[in-house]
Amino acid sequence: MKTEAKKANEDLDRLLRQKWMSGTWRLNREERPLDPATTVKPHLWKWADIYDALLQARDRIGIARGSAERRAIRLVNPGMAETEMTSHTMLFAFQLIQAGELAPAHRHTMTAIRFILQGKGGYTNVEGQKMVMEEGDLILTPQWNWHEHAHEGKEPMIWIDGLDVPLIKALQVISFEPYPGTRIPVKDSPHLAPHYGMTRPVASTSEALPRPLHYHWRDTHLSLRHLAEREPHPFDGVALEYVNPLTAGPTLPTLSCWVQMLPPATRTQVHRHTSTTIYHAFYGSGTTVINGEPFHWDKGDTFVVPLWSWHEHANRSATEDAVLFSMNDAPVLKAFGLYREEGQGESHIGL
Ligand SMILES: [Fe+2]
Ligand SMILES: [Fe+2]
Repeated sequence: MKTEAKKANEDLDRLLRQKWMSGTWRLNREERPLDPATTVKPHLWKWADIYDALLQARDRIGIARGSAERRAIRLVNPGMAETEMTSHTMLFAFQLIQAGELAPAHRHTMTAIRFILQGKGGYTNVEGQKMVMEEGDLILTPQWNWHEHAHEGKEPMIWIDGLDVPLIKALQVISFEPYPGTRIPVKDSPHLAPHYGMTRPVASTSEALPRPLHYHWRDTHLSLRHLAEREPHPFDGVALEYVNPLTAGPTLPTLSCWVQMLPPATRTQVHRHTSTTIYHAFYGSGTTVINGEPFHWDKGDTFVVPLWSWHEHANRSATEDAVLFSMNDAPVLKAFGLYREEGQGESHIGL
């Protein structure tokens, strides 16, 4: 039997609801946890499944303006089936383009990164800057930049597309625009040519600094090799962040990309942080334990470590290096003072 007081409270709640208001006394404890709680689930996708999906899409899906503009397979987090996103802040997808195809130009408020996995002869044009893709390269598409992908080679090209779609969706500022012309003209400026790197032709009169949109694997790999001679980071091994040399900040305002090497038979210590990371095994094989559950990965496998989950990595091979490429949302957390990190000490992975 309801007490008078309880009934009076319910009457008040109903009255407020009718007027599009609500009393804060209705909040329950689950809405005020001590530790951050996430709906993102740890999960691993096998390369064999991703690759098979790409081949099936290659045979069935054509790309053209006005229909499917991209042939890409999204990784859907089991905790976020309704949104079809990989985490609450990020989307990770694999794209395949065949020789002679053109993924038509457009721009959007979502920021994108590409990490190249297979093929030769493909390129991305971002605002007139033509960047020829090679395996292991990282290519950036900052938000609202015109971009298109084309392929002048022979074998299909496959790359990772990483985007901040769910974050931009949550902020309700998604804008998307098809390019008004057919192709983005390549700017004939030697200053923009990526192969000039940190140099410029002496005849150039431009004082603008080249935008850092293309990180070549040959440079990244060399940096990894040099760093491997030093003491590894306790939680991340031999780890590099792709930085923006113009700002000294992270790769992009909403996304940070990393590459890390785990030398043979090494394991990292256990830690957790309020950023979420999506890892792709570029080569090698290892095990990552997330909240006590082991995820065994081999070349091409991809997995997500949700925020505030304890995790540690180990290279399962005694002879081969393992290299992980990853993307995380730490720049967003750091921008608002919400980044937090905790260490737990030695690894528990028994190999
Ligand atoms: Fe795009
Ligand atoms: Fe971590």
